[in-house]
Amino acid sequence: MENILVCLAWPYANGDLHVGHIAGCYLPADIFARYQRLKGNRVVMVSGSDSHGTPIVVRAEKEGKTPREVFEHYHARFLETQKLLGISYDLFTHTDTNNHIALAQEMFRRLVRNGYLYPAKQKQLYSERQGKFLPDRLVEGTCPFCSYDKARGDQCDQCGALLDGTQLINPRSRNFPDDVLTIRESEQYMWDLPAVREQVLAYLADKDSYWRSTVTEFSRSYAREMQPRAFTRDLTWGIPIPVEGAEGKCIYVWWEALLGYLSATIEWAKITGQPDAWEAFWYDPSAKIYNFIGKDNILFHTVLWPALLIGMRNFDNSNSDRCFVLPYDVPANQYLNLGGQKFSKSLGVSLDALDLTQKYGPDAVRFYLSTILPEMRDADWSWSDFAQRNNSELLAKWGNLIQRVLSQIWRNFEGRIPEPGEFTESDRALLARAEQAFATVGAKLEAVRLREALFEVLDLATATNQYLDFEAPWKTIKTDPSRAGTQLYVAAQVIEALTVLFAPFTPHLSEAARRQLGYTDPLFGEPYIEEIDEGGRIHAVLRYDASKARGRWAMSALPPGQPLGGEPKGLVSKIESPATPDPVP
Ligand code: MF3
Ligand code: ZN
Repeated sequence: MENILVCLAWPYANGDLHVGHIAGCYLPADIFARYQRLKGNRVVMVSGSDSHGTPIVVRAEKEGKTPREVFEHYHARFLETQKLLGISYDLFTHTDTNNHIALAQEMFRRLVRNGYLYPAKQKQLYSERQGKFLPDRLVEGTCPFCSYDKARGDQCDQCGALLDGTQLINPRSRNFPDDVLTIRESEQYMWDLPAVREQVLAYLADKDSYWRSTVTEFSRSYAREMQPRAFTRDLTWGIPIPVEGAEGKCIYVWWEALLGYLSATIEWAKITGQPDAWEAFWYDPSAKIYNFIGKDNILFHTVLWPALLIGMRNFDNSNSDRCFVLPYDVPANQYLNLGGQKFSKSLGVSLDALDLTQKYGPDAVRFYLSTILPEMRDADWSWSDFAQRNNSELLAKWGNLIQRVLSQIWRNFEGRIPEPGEFTESDRALLARAEQAFATVGAKLEAVRLREALFEVLDLATATNQYLDFEAPWKTIKTDPSRAGTQLYVAAQVIEALTVLFAPFTPHLSEAARRQLGYTDPLFGEPYIEEIDEGGRIHAVLRYDASKARGRWAMSALPPGQPLGGEPKGLVSKIESPATPDPVP
């Protein structure tokens, strides 16, 4: 049994989740985690709302609200959306909890103590109009690396470079184009990144065999050149640094958000009443940590997060030589676009994940997104493709298969799984293929090639439909009822296998199909929202009890005579016509 920590990028709590977020991060991570649980590994899946920093403050200013109101509003929506979609977090929390704040301050102290942080004067862009330093994110200018003219002060969206506002050519204020920007010095804590360069490069050295080559090369070339970066900012909405007389200085939002992976695992351990359980994921060198992210977050996770973990070393009180475990894999996804355009609320290019899920149900959305996951290249949401995939694959190949087989059993075998007779060549071939699928699909899921894994499962469903067309039990029943019983038994047994194989992708449908097959124990539990009380400070989280889903990644013998769970009903609805026509190119 392996210890697997599945970490998902923390969404900024300044806007609703759209299907781009779901396809690029939350769904792939959930598919992977559900598979690992079925396989019997010990899985913990964590994330939360990124509650601090400029993005929240900007939204609050726009809406005339406080940053707290803004993040609490969106956090609650994140919980609803992900619960409805069945994103099975062991814990989805946020970065404004007492637990996280205390640990972020502990991170700061550790880094100071271990010699990686030092106070220094730093040049920063100052807004003469607003009379304050301008956050990097609110500065726009030309990228010094690729010349993209709309690079932000923190990052260039074209080449992915991480920037400081002062590196931009012709910097200007994003909100006030007529603002005059000057350079002033301010005292900040600087992070000595060159001091961990060799360790970070050593960490990246053995990833070639299983990381995407684009990710490794990009990360190494950044690590080779990296310079000290500011660790703190002058901010009012953030985590104050634990230093006497340093009022108004906060930890830069990215550094504390990254720590969230660790602090959320610690919070999970506390909540579940086994306060040391997090150590199995963070100190045991055989633990595997997976960071599911979008491509714009790569360097933060492949270079800067390892640099933080190396710098802190551990959270032990004694002089122990334990070290934090570094990410094992960072499956970074490309983007999902909408009609060929990037998601952008302000340009009206968006597709709200909550709306869509309420309208079509979680598994229609999960299924379609699984077929177009932007794993290697950008993908595009298309309404006609959505309807088409649902109707001709999920419904025609899988939903109808269940309905077709179980209703014949219901009608002809008194609603019980028939007793099979001797298997023919064709029966054995299909059963062997179903058994084999656990290995082939499993290998793809293991390697985080999720789309390909789903297509393998669909192939087995197709083979089962072909078996039925060929064997035609609805004809056999008239001449040889006992042979028809064997045919239907074989098909029902493969359906049982398919409910497990499809479960990481469309878990709700699998649970319903298993109930129809007559099983009463669920494959998974359901995520639920809970309020956590931290000595009077309350926050809501999403949780999930994974204890039921252990070790079921195999075909399990379907008991003859097992009564079906009631009269079979269709489980997949047809999607009538595209809600919105696809834009004409
Ligand atoms: N909030 C960031 C974004 O939406 C992602 C933060 S990931 C974390 O781009 F690791 F820092 F938490
Ligand atoms: Zn650039």
